[in-house]
Amino acid sequence: MFDKLASQPNDPLLALIGLYNADARADKIDLGVGVYRDDLGRTPVLRAVKAAEKQLLETQESKSYVAPEGDRVFLDLLWDLVGGKDTGKFAAGVQTPGGSGALRLASDLFARAGTRRLWLGLPSWPNHAGIFGATGLTVETYPYFDVPTQSVRFASMMKAMTGAQAGDAVLIHASCHNPTGAGLTAAQWQELAAIVAERRLIPLIDSAYQGFGTGIDEDVAGLRQVIKAAPEALVAVSCSKSFGIYRERTGAIFAVAETQTAADIARSNLVTMARTSYSMPPDHGAAVVRTILASETLRSDWVVELNSMRDRLNGLRRELAHALSDGWQLAPQIAEQQGMFSLLPLSESEVLDLRKDHGIYMPTSGRINIAGLKSADIARVASVLKPLLG
Ligand SMILES: Cc1ncc(COP(=O)(O)O)c(C=O)c1O
Repeated sequence: MFDKLASQPNDPLLALIGLYNADARADKIDLGVGVYRDDLGRTPVLRAVKAAEKQLLETQESKSYVAPEGDRVFLDLLWDLVGGKDTGKFAAGVQTPGGSGALRLASDLFARAGTRRLWLGLPSWPNHAGIFGATGLTVETYPYFDVPTQSVRFASMMKAMTGAQAGDAVLIHASCHNPTGAGLTAAQWQELAAIVAERRLIPLIDSAYQGFGTGIDEDVAGLRQVIKAAPEALVAVSCSKSFGIYRERTGAIFAVAETQTAADIARSNLVTMARTSYSMPPDHGAAVVRTILASETLRSDWVVELNSMRDRLNGLRRELAHALSDGWQLAPQIAEQQGMFSLLPLSESEVLDLRKDHGIYMPTSGRINIAGLKSADIARVASVLKPLLG
């Protein structure tokens, strides 16, 4: 049977890790992989996570199954963090293996409910199109960001939405857009929420970077506006970045509706689809997040750590923007954008030359992970980039 299969290419982002590791130059710079790094290039385990793990190690008495929907306390605490207390809606959640698992279950639910089309703004995280295509949805695209001018194409986006039909799904990034870092203004969120409600579209909001942009509540303000306006919504949450627990595969999908019954029906479907796929989600990461959010001390320490990750990102953005400013007119946009990523107007051959000639690694799209920069690298990176961007 196996000889009937064609070998599949490696995910280009994962392949980039191999290329970077194989480069012997001591001054190589990794702006590729999408994980947070400190100024020493490490992705450390947060203090609050270590403390929660210690508690779990000492107190956990069983490794028996939890529940089909996962850890209910985790789900309640996470929904409070993301949705807040006054959405005016009812939410029912299912714990998932990471944000990717949440997006996949959402996509399965759309397929099961007969939703045929999903609208995706481009550019987006490459796995989005893969996940939605995998369950048979037709992915319709609309322009989100113009790379040469580093600006959100809001008018084109709104125009495209008028082509969407009632019942179509629309994917929305909550904050810290991957790969562009470009977000919507409060007024634009309002307009987006209004058109979603008016055209009866079903928003699937992807929240993977809460706290990395402006703040914990600020980063979900737009999401909450859309939930309030839309009769039904799905919210996919990843805990990977905000809690630094990437490999623990922790996330959740929430169905949000106007009645508890409707939300519960959606959840029962999500649970049965998970059951025939991987049965139940892994427990450890969710137990860690639950322990942190339920403890006043651990929670406030986590907030301090999250704030410091955000401050580092924003500081690096300002430094890079400043270093590029005498050669690239649009440099201030880098400081305005949020989260880990920006998308530079570089051609594929320029990206390949940066790797070959300077040991600076990024995917061929030109996306850079701001957290991959060390303060000491910024002058060199800027001097190499300026002639290409200016
Ligand atoms: C926009 C976006 N959504 C979802 C995810 C999924 O995260 P994970 O499955 O690692 O929790 C990512 C990860 O990079 C992302 O950038």
